Amino acid sequence: LWLEKMAGCKGHFWQFCGTIFSMAKVAWRSELPVRIDRSSERSLGRQIYGEIAQAVLDGQLLPGSRLPSERQLSSDLGVARNTVNAAYDQLAAEGYIERVIGSGSRVSKAVRPQPFSIGRLPQRRSEPRLSRRGASLSDATLAIDTDENASEGIGAPALDAFPLAVWRRLAAKQIDRLTPADLGYGTARGYAPLRSMIADYLARTRRMNVASHRILIVAGAQQAYDLIARLLLDPGDGILFEEPGYLGARAAFLAADARLVPAPVDHEGMDVRSLTLKQRTARLAYTTPAHQFPLGPTLTLARRLALLEWAEDVNAWVVEDDYDGEFRYAGNTLSALACLDRSGRVIYVGSFSKILFPALRLGFMVVPENLAARAASARGFIDRQSPVLEQATLAAFMEEGHFARHVVRMRSLYAQRRTAAIRAFERHARSVIDLTVPETGVHLIARLRTKVDGEAVAAAVRACGLAAVPLARYYLGPPRLNALLVSFANLSNADVTVRRAVKAIENLTMRRSR
Ligand SMILES: Cc1ncc(COP(=O)(O)O)c(C=O)c1O
Repeated sequence: LWLEKMAGCKGHFWQFCGTIFSMAKVAWRSELPVRIDRSSERSLGRQIYGEIAQAVLDGQLLPGSRLPSERQLSSDLGVARNTVNAAYDQLAAEGYIERVIGSGSRVSKAVRPQPFSIGRLPQRRSEPRLSRRGASLSDATLAIDTDENASEGIGAPALDAFPLAVWRRLAAKQIDRLTPADLGYGTARGYAPLRSMIADYLARTRRMNVASHRILIVAGAQQAYDLIARLLLDPGDGILFEEPGYLGARAAFLAADARLVPAPVDHEGMDVRSLTLKQRTARLAYTTPAHQFPLGPTLTLARRLALLEWAEDVNAWVVEDDYDGEFRYAGNTLSALACLDRSGRVIYVGSFSKILFPALRLGFMVVPENLAARAASARGFIDRQSPVLEQATLAAFMEEGHFARHVVRMRSLYAQRRTAAIRAFERHARSVIDLTVPETGVHLIARLRTKVDGEAVAAAVRACGLAAVPLARYYLGPPRLNALLVSFANLSNADVTVRRAVKAIENLTMRRSR
């Protein structure tokens, strides 16, 4: 009778029993719908708690119905009384049951009975219901790039050349030095000694003189774009975006519902003047002046001045992404575009992903004076700050001179690999590829001479051990060039690898022409 009352009505009761018995791997030991499995890794108390909570949610135990006493249930189930007591305590603390001294335990009256639901599968949507922002942010066609950056893609630096032993030693030292005061919330701007190291580095290598309160440490350049988009853009705002351009920045701006205006790139870099007056009305421009990604040119002085003049005319911001300016082979690193900024419009973005390693997830922004406090405040509300240990380790790495030495070593390693790659392409690939060699960075542009599908060629080339992606991916509009970006960062045996890759391209071309 008690069970019938518990299950709501007679029909349901028998249906309920049938389902339980057919499902049960473990004997039904109590009047309560509690099954315990002694071979399970979950403790008996957790199992009792879980079974009763589920029965309350499913409506098998109706509000107000009485539960057996702890003694009764412990003897029915053959478990210690303390175990049942602890389960009841937890159920009471979470509001499933009420325990009144002297009158036992009952299912809480406050829980709304659910329809009898044993055996009914929860409804599943095939597609999650996303916001417009979420749909844009998680766009799979853009995510391809992130996957490849992580492994064989053209974004990966030569990680086996990183001085891991030094890093390990410095990281251990930072842990030893931690005091309780370091464990609290720090400033959202980032670890002060690291900001001051970055300020020194920028003065030496980019001829930028910035006070360290204008430097904001971020979780890689990607967070800088996101922060910039949230802070400075309203839905529908125009952005002059290099065409072709970097997918990471593009995704962050699209997710903010910005209107991307493709700004053509030629051998002098991004060309703002070629746009119509209407196209030029934008809130922001995104550019990679030291080394245009992906085509490779350096933004000329005339174009730099034209860009800043435009920004002043329309009262816009300029995002300068300097992600790999260290790897310049034709001389010293170049001064930043930000050095020419007289009206506080350039936001300089730096990353340690290419110089050190991407998993570090540290980068920085240099923001104009009037934006510094706002940017820090916004960062604070997004994810508060970057982890202290990584920042402290990086600061020590810079302070002890390892950073500067690593840059020199990597530049020389990449210079050798670059020369070897160019030679190998010249020797083996003239019939299928025209090569463009930028002055900076770790990738080359291999223009395909025949009309073959860039994705297929890139996949075939990658299978030969040469990191490659089709250039077409980086265009907002129809691609102007059928080319591959090929990275030499991890190319240790260029001659053999390029020869193999060229063979694969020739095979594809022949198959197509048959
Ligand atoms: C154009 C460009 N900007 C920035 C980055 C670095 O991004 P992050 O610091 O988020 O790793 C990369 C890395 O591949 C890049 O190609």
